[in-house]
Amino acid sequence: MILVTGGAGYIGSHVAKELLFNGHDVVILDNLSTGHKETVKTLKEMAQGRKGVGELEFVFGDTGDKELLVSLLREKAVSSVVHLAAFSLVGESMQNPGKYFDNNTSRAVNILECMVECGVRNIVFSSTAAVYGEPVEVPITEDHPVKPTNVYGASKVMVEEILRWYDRIHGIKYVSLRYFNAAGADESGLIGEWHEPETHLIPIVMQKVLGQRDKLTVFGDDYPTPDGTCIRDYIHVTDLARAHILALEALEGGMGSKVYNLGNGSGYSVREVIDTVSEVVGQDVVYDIGERRAGDPAVLVASSDKIKKELGWKPGYPELKDIVRSAWKWHWG
Ligand code: UFG
Repeated sequence: MILVTGGAGYIGSHVAKELLFNGHDVVILDNLSTGHKETVKTLKEMAQGRKGVGELEFVFGDTGDKELLVSLLREKAVSSVVHLAAFSLVGESMQNPGKYFDNNTSRAVNILECMVECGVRNIVFSSTAAVYGEPVEVPITEDHPVKPTNVYGASKVMVEEILRWYDRIHGIKYVSLRYFNAAGADESGLIGEWHEPETHLIPIVMQKVLGQRDKLTVFGDDYPTPDGTCIRDYIHVTDLARAHILALEALEGGMGSKVYNLGNGSGYSVREVIDTVSEVVGQDVVYDIGERRAGDPAVLVASSDKIKKELGWKPGYPELKDIVRSAWKWHWG
C-alpha cells in the first residue's frame, strides 16, 4: 500500500491515478484544505471495475496528526509514502510564513518520525523549482545553487535538508522531485487543475476565455526576455505523476536517495502561453499589461537530463499545445 498525502489536490490526484492504474493500492490522506472530496470520488469511479487497477482508500485527516499517521502506516501496511500535502502559493508564503513552515516543514518532520517509528523506509517528496531562486544559469540543473527568494521555496529546501539527515541517521531513502510549472489535466478530462482561488497562468487564461473572470493581466512586459514577459517551463501533470511512479519503484527496488528536476526543458513566455491558448480554443484572448509580480524570476527552465538518464523518464507531452489542449478539455468539459 502506498500512502499519498495531498492526494485530493491537483498534482496529488494525478499521482494517485497513475499509481492506481499501475496496479498499486493507494491510501490518500488529505485534510481537504485545498483538495476536493469530489476529486476522490471521481478517482474511485475511474478505478472501479477496471482490471489491473489498485484499490483506493481515502482518509480525512492531517499530516500533523501523529496518532492517525502511525495507525495508518501500521494498519495499512504502507511500504512507501508519496508526500505532496503542502501549501504552494509564493505570495501567501511571504505574508504568512508561519503557515508554510508549519504545514510544509514541521509536518514533514512529523511524517518522517512516524515512518521511523513504523519502519517505513521510502518517501517521494514533492519539491519545487522555487528552491533555486533567481537562476544564475539556465537550463537549471540539480547542481545549481539553492537560494530560495520566498518562504514557500525555503520551506521545501528545509525539508530536503531534513531528508538528508533522516537518510544518514535512520536510513530513510527519498527522492525529492523539484517540479517546474505543472499544467494540463488527465487525458480523461475528469480530473484537472482546481484551485480556489486560482493564481496560475493557464487556468486563469481559460477562465477568461470562459467568461468566468473579467480581466487577464500579464504581470510585467519589461523583463530581459525576447517579448519582455516571463519565461517558464510547463510540464504536463501526468508526466509529473509518472515520474513519481518511476521514483517510487526505483526506491522500492533499492535505489539510494536522489534529487531530480522535472520540467520539459523548453521555456515559453507568458505571451506565448496566451497565444497558444488562443490557438487551441480558436478565440482571441484579451489581456492587459500590469505591474511585475513580486518574486517572479525572468526565466525558469529546467534541465531534466538526470531523471531521463537515471530513471528513463520521458515526457509524453513535450509540446505546450498538447498540454494546453488537455487543460482545455478539463476546463471546458
Ligand atoms: N502570470 C501572469 N498573469 C496571471 C498569472 C500569472 O502574467 O494572472 C505570470 C506570472 O507572473 C509568471 C507566469 O505567468 O510569470 C507563470 O505564473 P504561475 O503563477 O502560473 O506560476 P509560477 O511560475 O509563479 O509558479 C509555479 C508554481 C510555484 C512554483 C513555481 C516554480 O505555482 O509553486 O512554479 O517554477 F514554485
